[in-house]
Amino acid sequence: MSYQRPKGTNDILPGESEKWQFIEETARTLFSRYQYQEIRTPLFEHYEVISRSVGDTTDIVSKEMYDFYDKGNRHITLRPEGTAPIVRSYVEHKLFGPEHTNPYKVFYIGPMFRYERPQKGRLRQFHQIGVEAFGSNNPATDVETMIMALEFFKQLGIKQFHLVINTLGDQKTRKNYRQALVDYFFAYESQLSEDSKRRLQENPLRILDSKDKADQKLVADAPSILDYLSPEAFQHFTQVTTMLDALEISYEIEPTMVRGLDYYTHTIFEIMSDNPQLGAQSTLCAGGRYDQLVEELGGPDTPGFGFAMGIERLLLVLENEAVELPDLHSLDAYVVNIGANTNVEALKVTQAIRDAGFSADRDVMGRKAKAQFKSADKKGARLVFTLGEDELEAGMINVKAMASGKEKRVPLEAIYSDFAQIFEEMS
Ligand code: HAM
Repeated sequence: MSYQRPKGTNDILPGESEKWQFIEETARTLFSRYQYQEIRTPLFEHYEVISRSVGDTTDIVSKEMYDFYDKGNRHITLRPEGTAPIVRSYVEHKLFGPEHTNPYKVFYIGPMFRYERPQKGRLRQFHQIGVEAFGSNNPATDVETMIMALEFFKQLGIKQFHLVINTLGDQKTRKNYRQALVDYFFAYESQLSEDSKRRLQENPLRILDSKDKADQKLVADAPSILDYLSPEAFQHFTQVTTMLDALEISYEIEPTMVRGLDYYTHTIFEIMSDNPQLGAQSTLCAGGRYDQLVEELGGPDTPGFGFAMGIERLLLVLENEAVELPDLHSLDAYVVNIGANTNVEALKVTQAIRDAGFSADRDVMGRKAKAQFKSADKKGARLVFTLGEDELEAGMINVKAMASGKEKRVPLEAIYSDFAQIFEEMS
């Protein structure tokens, strides 16, 4: 009996995991420059934390939750995203208190779970890198956070992407806009998909996010939210675009963009890949402002802004754009050992090289010299040391630089006393 991994999940194997480490390291370094600190929340949450935040009528909550009742009859769900759990944590630990910095800025890296139809760039267990900043109303927060995301893509070496923004305004804006949408779509009700007929009653904004072709035709001529902004919402959005212009960041405004989660207010944005290979999964990063969410989950009136990006999609783009990633698994030295008597000395030599702060490996399979050299080559070793019984007797070891072919015999003692010196001389 053998098993396969569950549908929509991936094993991240060596060879691949180095790329993950590179992406995560790049994020950690960049985010800390912007003063974000790491937060880790549980992989599962109370169902209600997610349903109240993301919204009951969204696809995420109504169709894609991995939810269950635990042995204590609690309604639990694997987290489909990171923002709601972090807001729950922010409120629970009173991170808005005077002893904490304001804005309070956190980042996270980890798996999320959505029961979606798996395809390229869309999984059931996928991974996000995200950030959340609490406490600032200032449009400069929107702009610097979007810039940080753009900077991240540049640092990874990704070139083909663009920024799309929109605003969902404040409550007053959405009330007026909702009415405009109801009036518009009501006239075409019979042409709407079954899902959208329901959305028309429950949450007409969701129709704008419909994947249905007939719905999308109607959406193209739907009223624009930009015509319904309250004076405050208009001012916030104008400041955002003015600041983006001042920093010479190019962007598009897409008035029908609504995002698949209900908690957004004011600025929302997506960073899309222009690489044709990604197809429908071209959104690499998405986020926005959520000024009501902290209060919705029982905290004080506190604005928020954040984003998340899918690591699997980043990897697809890196591959499609043929971006060269640094080698994070390089091998400085390989110790070829021939004859059973060299076993202990080979162990000592390899350990000494590791103790000196270099990466080292050796043969432990008792293979022939030729096979050991092949192994060293396959691993990309920079230096290959050879220890035979003759060398051992003479207290010497052979060293070869693989790139130049330069070879030398050095006293074993030199490895123990100053390996760095040998490494520098040979490479
Ligand atoms: P989201 O748009 O649902 O937003 O997801 C953000 C990103 O996660 C997407 O743009 C995509 O790159 C990736 N993603 C989503 N679903 C999948 C999937 N099934 N397979 C692979 N990748 C996926 C959020 O999750 C919000 N919490 C973002 C946010 C943070 N807003 C404010 N703060």
